[in-house]
Amino acid sequence: QAYNEKESLYIALNFAKTFFHENLQSGEGKSIGLSYLKERGFDMATIEKFELGYSLDGWDHLLNKARTSGFEETNLLKAGLILERENKPGNYYDRFRGRVMFPIHNLSGKPIAFGARIMTQDKKQPKYINSPETAIYHKSDVLYGIYQAKQAIRQKENCYLVEGYTDVISMHLAGVENVVASSGTSLTENQIKLIKRFTDQVTVLYDGDDAGINASLRGIDMLLEGGLNVKAVVFPPNEDPDSFSRKAGKEGFQKFLEAEEKDFIHFKIDLFTKGAADDPIKKAEAIRQVVLSISKVPDPIIRSVYAKESARLLGMEEDILLTELNRQLLKNQ
Ligand code: UTP
Ligand code: MN
Ligand code: MN
Ligand code: MN
Ligand code: MN
Repeated sequence: QAYNEKESLYIALNFAKTFFHENLQSGEGKSIGLSYLKERGFDMATIEKFELGYSLDGWDHLLNKARTSGFEETNLLKAGLILERENKPGNYYDRFRGRVMFPIHNLSGKPIAFGARIMTQDKKQPKYINSPETAIYHKSDVLYGIYQAKQAIRQKENCYLVEGYTDVISMHLAGVENVVASSGTSLTENQIKLIKRFTDQVTVLYDGDDAGINASLRGIDMLLEGGLNVKAVVFPPNEDPDSFSRKAGKEGFQKFLEAEEKDFIHFKIDLFTKGAADDPIKKAEAIRQVVLSISKVPDPIIRSVYAKESARLLGMEEDILLTELNRQLLKNQ
């Protein structure tokens, strides 16, 4: 073949994307896959925009289609699209079977991986399976939705950060297009650098459960360390941007974001005092938590602005807060 390895992987991924997408037009793909997407409120325009699809429920639908189109098995294997049977070298089967397919695009809109959701509540299988790392897919360098969001991020001078594929898609439906997903793992330095190419302002919108709150706390500190301005919105318990936007509607959702958006200082104070701001133990914990985050900010001038602001919000002497901040800065070294 005249293509180098990476080029041939891009071609295979694009072929698979088109196959999965066209599956939605008829048969099982239409009755099961498309129905599922429609039930989730995704319209055709959105399905096209994100190039969603469906992998047929069988062992070799993609494999056979790709073979007859001239693709080599070794190439499909390296692309993460097929797997080799255990103890049966040279015997392959489709990785993605009977799932709705979410292509993960790179910055120029080429599919480089897939997320694949099961449609039943089968407890024995993971809800999502994802492509493995390949020569063109490094999970820690990618943010889902960046291709569809990049223009809006520049224009709005802000990037919403969510957990999941469906959160990104539902936010587009709610008229909010400056959104990317970390896809359920903790944020990486390279993902933060990617955001910084487009804006220096991030609003974290993680799920309203303990896992989501904890991920927000980690994410906020990493974003601050990366020199970004950070805000956060807390969703009601057990809601995520997808479920909540569908309940609240387009306008309700946008209003909620506006009303609930807090800078990281407010976010942490509210979280750690939980409405009991007079409780000295809780207040002390909130102070320590806020100081911890401020200590991550690389720019000393911005750090001192945050320190001033926090002292005011917490109703305490700035000197005491600065002492605590300096103690923390030494500890960080
Ligand atoms: P969630 O469990 O919050 O799923 O995981 P979700 O995005 O709300 O999905 P829906 O609405 O139930 O369809 C957040 C993200 O974590 C990753 C996916 O990227 C998912 O979007 N994840 C989750 C996995 O990779 N595997 C899993 O089994 C679960
Ligand atoms: Mn189409
Ligand atoms: Mn979650
Ligand atoms: Mn979720
Ligand atoms: Mn969800």
